[in-house]
Amino acid sequence: MTVLWTNCNAATMASGRYSIVEDAALVTDGKHIRWVGRRAELPAGEHAETIDLAGAWLTPGLIDCHTHTVFGGDRSGEFEQRLEGVSYADIAAAGGGIASTVRATRAASEDELFASAKERLTSLLRDGVTTLESKSGYGLDLENERKILRVNRRLEQELPVTISSTCLAAHALPPEYAGRADDYIHLVCSEILPALAAEGLVDAVDAFCEYLAFSPAQVEQVFTAARQLGLPVKLHAEQLSSLHGSSLAARYQALSADHLEFMTEDDVKVMAVAGTVAVLLPGAYYFLRETQLPPIQALREQGVAIAIASDLNPGTSPALSLRLMLNMACTLFRMTPEEALAGVTWHAAKALGLQASHGSLEAGKVADFVAWDITRPAQLSYWLGGELNKRIIRHGQEVTHA
Ligand code: NIG
Ligand code: FE
Repeated sequence: MTVLWTNCNAATMASGRYSIVEDAALVTDGKHIRWVGRRAELPAGEHAETIDLAGAWLTPGLIDCHTHTVFGGDRSGEFEQRLEGVSYADIAAAGGGIASTVRATRAASEDELFASAKERLTSLLRDGVTTLESKSGYGLDLENERKILRVNRRLEQELPVTISSTCLAAHALPPEYAGRADDYIHLVCSEILPALAAEGLVDAVDAFCEYLAFSPAQVEQVFTAARQLGLPVKLHAEQLSSLHGSSLAARYQALSADHLEFMTEDDVKVMAVAGTVAVLLPGAYYFLRETQLPPIQALREQGVAIAIASDLNPGTSPALSLRLMLNMACTLFRMTPEEALAGVTWHAAKALGLQASHGSLEAGKVADFVAWDITRPAQLSYWLGGELNKRIIRHGQEVTHA
């Protein structure tokens, strides 16, 4: 049962460029793309349905490759504190920050977490997201990490979105392990990860490598445990200081290293050789009023794939629009609109290990795409959030979001 989508233009994003096809047509076969190209070159054949897109621009469905969507509580009070001059690190040291979200997440039921995450996720989906990554990391014990990862699986079942579920048990030290970080890392490696992996709840393993979180040596233990379980790794690295976590991640063939404001030129080279994706998070950069820019030009020159993500989380990036992140990537990081769009399609797919099936409009890939009512692709980065007129198609079916 093929469907012909016609009277459109396409930024296919193949190879991480716009790869524009004007006056295009696209044929879907169930949940896959069968053909895409110039309408004049459409192969002859019958289709079950023909859909006129009235001159819309097609892009792949957007991919948000770094989020902490599932959490309890509210941190807007900390936002006010920071506006009065208290730093993120000071708040964390005083028992706020990640620890405060851990308390609220532990206190919430799975149904409560599901309901609040569903609301946030729906905002992202309405903005054109069809695939996203969602991390645990606010449970910090087996039962509560499981609760979060189960919500990820439920969200994927109930909403039209593909979710890559990441275990970030090594996000922060839980209060019951204060002063015993090595013991907590042992628990993560010997109990939490093996149990959750055995339950099929984990697609990848992440950690927070930072002076206020875990050391490179501790992260290495987590990566070794992940490797033994056959799970790919990724890392929060170089967000607040330079510990060369990005190089460490690359040595473990990480899918991605994320944040990266404080990475060095040497780290960039190591990532380039390993093919590890650099995931930049302009929402966190903006919200923390960071001034140290990630080394964009070095990443470009070394040919490191650059993805952009929302980092949706209650502490450093309460971002409900991935398109707003495109604008921030351009305005704050001086990326081009083409680079930014590639960062939420082609390169984001690679950051999730989904490059064979997602991230571009090409025959054989899943039919996840957005038909935008715009006249140039750069308009996706130009508008500051808001809802653009669009039709969202996932797995070949048009979806509407309440
Ligand atoms: O990606 N860097 C660590 N984790 C989150 C922040 C988490 C929080 O403050 O709740 C981040 O920025
Ligand atoms: Fe994060």
